[in-house]
Amino acid sequence: MSGRGLILGIESSCDETAAAVVERGTRTLSSVVASQIKTHARYGGVVPELASREHLRAIVPVVRAALAEAGVALGDLDAIAVTAGPGLAGALLVGITYAKALAYAQGLPLIAVNHLEGHIHAVLLHELETEKQVPSGAKAQVDFVGATAVMAKAMTYQSCPDTNQRNLAEEAALALVVSGGHTHLYRARQERGAWSYLLMGRTVDDAAGEAFDKVAKLLGFGYPGGPWIDALARFGNPKAVPFAFAQIKVKAHLAGKVARTKAAKTAPIAELEPRFMFSFSGIKTAVLRYVELHELRGEAQARAARLFAPGVESRPPQSKEEALELCPQQVLDLVASFQCAVVGDLMKKTFAAAESLGARRILVTGGVAANRELRARFSAEAARRGVRVSFPTLALSTDNAAMIAAAAWPRFLAGEFAEDSLSADPSLALGR
Ligand code: KG4
Ligand code: ZN
Repeated sequence: MSGRGLILGIESSCDETAAAVVERGTRTLSSVVASQIKTHARYGGVVPELASREHLRAIVPVVRAALAEAGVALGDLDAIAVTAGPGLAGALLVGITYAKALAYAQGLPLIAVNHLEGHIHAVLLHELETEKQVPSGAKAQVDFVGATAVMAKAMTYQSCPDTNQRNLAEEAALALVVSGGHTHLYRARQERGAWSYLLMGRTVDDAAGEAFDKVAKLLGFGYPGGPWIDALARFGNPKAVPFAFAQIKVKAHLAGKVARTKAAKTAPIAELEPRFMFSFSGIKTAVLRYVELHELRGEAQARAARLFAPGVESRPPQSKEEALELCPQQVLDLVASFQCAVVGDLMKKTFAAAESLGARRILVTGGVAANRELRARFSAEAARRGVRVSFPTLALSTDNAAMIAAAAWPRFLAGEFAEDSLSADPSLALGR
């Protein structure tokens, strides 16, 4: 234990094995991510059994690399934080089991973090690091509510992180978590150091990132699909195909029509407002219809065979010439129209939810938050409305462990440690 407030974060909920050391929830000393993209690319999606196997292979070297990069030893750590869910059960278990063993061996507290809360803290961590709000100099003893007496005595910190997050303490922010597994809207609020979340809306079927991945696969592009669609859409006409989103009906939820979906497992939806609900399976089907109607399927299959041929290293196109070598203008137009519609729908509901809360701040996070069109349009709309929108860095947008260590810090201060019985919770819900 160094008393520096060093938390080792471990993340293994899906297809990235990640470890990071973050000081006091505000300063990233290291962030190592081992991606399994190559393993899953040929299947066009994450294969759970392969993911668990790859996590088992990577976890020890990734944690070692994170400690080495941070220049700290296991004995310097003050706590270990791990993603407890939501995610793939077998994948989560690898991180949890390893974190438990390390914590037990080192006599350190273990902190369970919700993956979605981690994504929200990726934005906050980025803001704290870029805005350099961390006061330095005078030493301040942190108030350890609930932490053990031994630890409270042992630790003296350089600054109080709660003051850094004061901006958000006074007013609620609206957070959009938009990734391959989630499209959720939360009210996020910090009171006396502790964060609380209220679910305001979410997808009733596919997540937005899942729609990007499925459309990319359908058109014969690489995995994950988001970066491909993002790169290709720049060269297409977003008005070429008029995709529309239907208003979600309350009756459908109450009738239990969505109860079997992946997303529906995480929290009750009956009391959520339909205007803040998302649905992305319809647009995916609309793209499929377009592809069939215009006989683009054969060409997509040929493209996939080329892009995934053994030994071929494919990357998204960087110029219009490269894009046109891959596919005709008609496909570029389709991709641009798809992305434009998805971003438009995310924007409409996010800003409406923020307005209903009176929130002046919007946090957009998760893998899809890396999307260029999304960032540009959210930023322009926020400026027009006079509200502030923040995103994580590109590296912090997709899965990483720095966000897990950062989210753990307020819990560490509050002494909220995991029980020995901690296990993976694939459908762990965030907030109420
Ligand atoms: O947060 P993340 O790494 O993992 C999950 O928790 O799901 O998000 C991965 C998702 C994938 O669906 C991927 O296609 C999408 O984020 N993604 C993007 C972009 N980069 C990643 N979607 C749109 N545009 C991007 N630039
Ligand atoms: Zn994620």
